[in-house]
Amino acid sequence: MRGSSVIPAKPLYEGKAKSVYTSENPDELIVVFRNDMTAFNGVKHDLFTDKGRLNATASEFFMKMLEAEGIKTHYIRMSAPDTMIVRRLEMIPLEVIVRNVAAGSMTKKYPVAEGTVLDWPVVTIDYKDDERGDPMINDDLIQVLHILTGDELTQVKKIALLVNTVLTRFFDECGIRLVDFKLEFGKAGGNIFLGDEISMDSMRLWDKETGESFDKDVYRFNKGDVITAYRNVLKRIIPEFSL
Ligand code: ATP
Ligand code: TYD
Repeated sequence: MRGSSVIPAKPLYEGKAKSVYTSENPDELIVVFRNDMTAFNGVKHDLFTDKGRLNATASEFFMKMLEAEGIKTHYIRMSAPDTMIVRRLEMIPLEVIVRNVAAGSMTKKYPVAEGTVLDWPVVTIDYKDDERGDPMINDDLIQVLHILTGDELTQVKKIALLVNTVLTRFFDECGIRLVDFKLEFGKAGGNIFLGDEISMDSMRLWDKETGESFDKDVYRFNKGDVITAYRNVLKRIIPEFSL
């Protein structure tokens, strides 16, 4: 038992950072944010105390913020500090990335220096398939592979850009630059919902003044204590937060 939810012995799905369980309600899933941290498609893997709670708290905070802006998300409630009850979605196998500043894979693939402010927010989409190395995909492929219709793709991109507007404005007020982030979407009852997580694992966050990273890059590139970095984000976004 965790909070008010009975967690079955075996997860429906065990991902690299979260475990997903069925619940008594067939329309809901139980998502446990684990302390596992992975990078480079699972090649680097470690466990960090409190990591699951920190990311779950951030994700809850942002999902609620986006709901308040009229964006449909899978968030229902928390049943424990690291456990979120969500609407069960049929996940769309796409990683929708919004970039405001060049960093990460963009600077490896294209001739642009890390830190370059992009002329406008750029949406790039990867096909979510670990075995294929999550290749980048384009609008035509998404439609001819019947992943989404043209209208659905337009809707997904529109939501992703709206999320960017809301989060960029909020982080700016907290002294943080939202460099880029990844979203996942799913369908339920004919509607598209924002699923998965919005956390320090799925965003690049830089201090506006110093450029210091507060995200998973601290772990990817051994830049310091990743839990301290994640805590610093929570302290800035939720001043009353303590852990
Ligand atoms: P990656 O780390 O590349 O995102 P993963 O599958 O290892 O992949 P986890 O976050 O560990 O990622 O696992 C969570 C899984 O749950 C993901 O496959 C995600 O697509 C899925 N998921 C998230 N939200 C929902 C939802 N509301 N309904 C159904 N599945 C969901
Ligand atoms: P990206 O620069 O494409 O990849 P990488 O982090 O491997 O250099 O990542 C852009 C943003 O999306 C970054 O904030 C991390 C996030 N992201 C994920 O959360 N999961 C993923 O599988 C990918 C590819 C990116």
